[in-house]
Amino acid sequence: MVDRTGRHAGRVAVITGAARGQGRSHAWRLAEEGADVVAIDVCAPNPGVAYPMATPAELEETAAGVRERGGRVSAHVADVRDAEGLGKAVTAGIEELGGVDAVLANAGIGMASPDVTPAQAFRNQLDVNTVGVWNTVQAAAPAMIAQGRGGAIVVTSSSMGLTGRGGDGSGQMDGYIASKHALVGLVRAWAHWLAPHSIRVNSVHPSGVATPMVLNDAVAALFTDPPDGSGTGQVPDVGNLLPVGLLEPGDVADAVAWLCSDEARYVTGIALPVDAGFTAR
Ligand SMILES: NC(=O)c1ccc[n+]([C@@H]2O[C@H](COP(=O)([O-])OP(=O)(O)OC[C@H]3O[C@@H](n4cnc5c(N)ncnc54)[C@H](O)[C@@H]3O)[C@@H](O)[C@H]2O)c1
Repeated sequence: MVDRTGRHAGRVAVITGAARGQGRSHAWRLAEEGADVVAIDVCAPNPGVAYPMATPAELEETAAGVRERGGRVSAHVADVRDAEGLGKAVTAGIEELGGVDAVLANAGIGMASPDVTPAQAFRNQLDVNTVGVWNTVQAAAPAMIAQGRGGAIVVTSSSMGLTGRGGDGSGQMDGYIASKHALVGLVRAWAHWLAPHSIRVNSVHPSGVATPMVLNDAVAALFTDPPDGSGTGQVPDVGNLLPVGLLEPGDVADAVAWLCSDEARYVTGIALPVDAGFTAR
């Protein structure tokens, strides 16, 4: 018997990047705690990125998992870069499920394809990771305001949204770092905008998480010693203080579910690291 009396019972969460990884984990966690989910993902290749995006089948798996947990789900293929298409998906989901109480602006991209120029890599990071988050909140916030029952927005930034460590001029790393730092500014601005409506806005900042964004051949190659034997043979230092390489998506879902809950009712405008001490170094 599924417990539908959890701390998110009767609520609706809009989640971008929901087809896999952290977005899927958030969808399933909130469903376990009683929420219904509007699950949105691009489900199409991005030639500017070095690893594949999610598939329609993965979005359907996320949706099936929400249903198994007793939640209702409204799943949509939409690109967060496309304000109009995203807006239609968000509006359709909110109408189908009867409102919106949480918005998780989670969709994002990491390592750039070697086929793009530094300038293209930089622009791609900003387009998805920053403009995409802006589009998401712009699409959902008016409905949240209009329904007048408050709410919570959680933006997924990164530990790289709080430090420039490891940065370079590649368009990739500095683009990712800039795109994720920008979210701190948006969260602070939106906390002001939405506080009169009892809508809270916060960001989470994970260090490496075990999802396809890092568990892929392109990233593995960065951590693999060259075949000529010139490498160190050492386990790479990922930068966490605590003795852990990658966090699990559920570690981030714990923080996100709390930020969306009444337990965090007076928490707004914060940047919450979930990073095993990465940014404390
Ligand atoms: N994995 C990590 O190490 C890590 C660390 C810190 C922050 N993050 C951030 O966490 C968030 C979730 O990433 P993840 O780790 O689950 O990776 P992931 O690649 O598994 O998931 C990202 C999801 O976003 C979707 N997506 C990408 N571009 C999109 C677009 N234009 N429109 C709609 N959907 C799009 C993808 O299809 C995918 O399903 C991202 O914002 C990422 O930057 C990840």
